[in-house]
Amino acid sequence: MTVAMSQVISVEALAHDPAQLEAALVEPASCLRRGGLVAFPTETVYGLGAHALNRTAVQRIFTVKGRPATDPLIVHVASVDAVGSLVAAFPPSAAAVAERFWPGPLTIVLRRSAAVPDEVTAGLDTVAVRVPAHPVALALLRAAGVPVAAPSANLFSRPSPTCAAHVLEDLDGHFDILVDGGATTVGVESTVLDLSGGTPTILRPGAVTLEMLRPLLPEVRLNDGPVPAHGTALPSPGLLERHYSPRAPLTLYEGDTAAAVALLLRDAARAAAGGRTVGTLLADEDPAPQDGSHVHVIRLGSAEDSETVAAALYSGMRALDALGVDAILVRGFPSGAGLGPAIRDRLTRAAAGRVTRCEAADAPAPSPRESASERAE
Ligand code: TXA
Ligand code: MG
Repeated sequence: MTVAMSQVISVEALAHDPAQLEAALVEPASCLRRGGLVAFPTETVYGLGAHALNRTAVQRIFTVKGRPATDPLIVHVASVDAVGSLVAAFPPSAAAVAERFWPGPLTIVLRRSAAVPDEVTAGLDTVAVRVPAHPVALALLRAAGVPVAAPSANLFSRPSPTCAAHVLEDLDGHFDILVDGGATTVGVESTVLDLSGGTPTILRPGAVTLEMLRPLLPEVRLNDGPVPAHGTALPSPGLLERHYSPRAPLTLYEGDTAAAVALLLRDAARAAAGGRTVGTLLADEDPAPQDGSHVHVIRLGSAEDSETVAAALYSGMRALDALGVDAILVRGFPSGAGLGPAIRDRLTRAAAGRVTRCEAADAPAPSPRESASERAE
């Protein structure tokens, strides 16, 4: 039996050699124009791209990912000039934000034009647009010369891919070409900012933060409404619960840091002693699990360094899945500044309700108590 494999074109070494990069991207660009599917790096995560004005190509994205048709896609373009034909209007607020943050990890939701197919927008009267900053993404978009609809290049509800291997792990053989540009730098998906009317609202937190947007949009707020159920088209279906999830059930330990980490390590050791394979995602400064507890540890960076933690988050989840762990226990990271809100958002969704809140008084437990990972079963 032969298994179809996607073509891989490695451009990692060429990213800063414009002429060679352009040559390497001729084939992927023409594949996009013909209606093929091309996975490519952006500064946030890898995308699975299709010609945004080609309905058949866009439909294939949904089939390949197993993504519900109610979840709209982001349209990627090489420059702000290319947005004009996709939107009904480009308000001054959007112009100001685009001027400041594009190319970059910011997606802007605007009222759409008739040129954008319903398949892209899930029938909404708005369209999400972004000019990514990754040199490979920009060169590919320029060479393609068409708008490219691209969700993250993972199977629906799996963590987004931050390197080429993640894309192949989920989707090899189901798309045409993978442009391998090495690991992405930001590591979590773009900020989604709704400027389609009413109060400017962040629908998904990312590297462009509330604090960064406020000087330009004094009223901007973070959407903290209830998480919509699967199949609902609004306000942002990427906010579906149990998104970005590893295969193993993930439990998040939040609250007083010392107590949360102590309880996590205690639960991990107990679950391991009970014969389960346990994985943990910790900060560099956290203590190690007790010797002999057979707990897998992945350290994401210093808790105060949200950029490093965000960049390591999804690959950490995938690495633990690859080890075949039965449960993943994660410490909460500071959610106040920088990428903190984005990290907390993704971890909360990956935990899908399995959150253990810890007070200082919960610290090293003198008396036995039921483990949170067992409770989660
Ligand atoms: O960083 C990123 O944004 C990556 C890279 C590839 O650009 N893309 C990405 O796409 O994360 P995806 O499809 O995984 O997430 C798109 C998000 C979803 O939350 C979706 O609901 C939201 O954007 N979205 C798209 N169109 C929208 C619209 N018209 N109104 C509200 N939300 C929209
Ligand atoms: Mg996604």
